[in-house]
Amino acid sequence: MRTKKTRNVIIAETEEAMAAEGARLFAEIVASGVAANTMCAVALSGGSTPRKMHALLGQEPYCSGIPWSRVHLYWGDERCVPADSRWSNYGRAREDFLDYIAIPIENIHPMPGEVPPDEGALRYGKEIPEVFDLILLGMGTDGHTASLFPGHSALEERRKTVVPVEGGNPDIPRLTITFPVIERARNVLFLVSGREKAEPVKSVLKDHDLRLPAARGFPSEGRLIWIMDREAASLLPEEVINDQEHH
Ligand code: 6PG
Repeated sequence: MRTKKTRNVIIAETEEAMAAEGARLFAEIVASGVAANTMCAVALSGGSTPRKMHALLGQEPYCSGIPWSRVHLYWGDERCVPADSRWSNYGRAREDFLDYIAIPIENIHPMPGEVPPDEGALRYGKEIPEVFDLILLGMGTDGHTASLFPGHSALEERRKTVVPVEGGNPDIPRLTITFPVIERARNVLFLVSGREKAEPVKSVLKDHDLRLPAARGFPSEGRLIWIMDREAASLLPEEVINDQEHH
């Protein structure tokens, strides 16, 4: 039986406003994580939605306002490709902001996409922290999040923290964190934009359809926030667009 869960739903007027709100919350969560534990650990998501937010993190005020030397950056999922591949989430993040911020190279922990997936999953499972201060997630039009795809056996993994999977777009081998990692996070922040996500957003936030992996991305104790633009929220009834309780 799932205990009562609360989601904070923030609707931004545009994709740009969503990215700005995401960057603001990123900085806020990092600041409180650093204040509490000196260092803080963040798992970035891939895909295209977070790229505008990433670009903002590489500009003022975040470029010098975030204590990057106290931040460790990881990924929630990665395609098993070299870093210079157009499909690499790490490669995109480097282009978008990592190359512009003063973060020590040892604080950046890309998923090992260039080794056999089983080996990469085992290695990365040992590298990630027990508890993330922040896990950023997106959602596909099929309701997947990270690389946890509907109906995949990885959804039921309760022991391993990182597993190899196949699927997605592009349909190639990937590594993904599992639900136990998401459930332990202090903060989980979904960024979802575009009308093509309105249907899965409704399925998750209104219908609570647990067949969609994104509906299961809940921290057990931590804070869950969904930031969307109006387009992605366009099928949500008004009563959902506030803090909502989820059973
Ligand atoms: C990935 C992402 C993935 C992404 C969703 C949404 O590696 O593909 O981590 O989970 O968040 O597929 O992708 P878009 O933001 O491109 O719509």
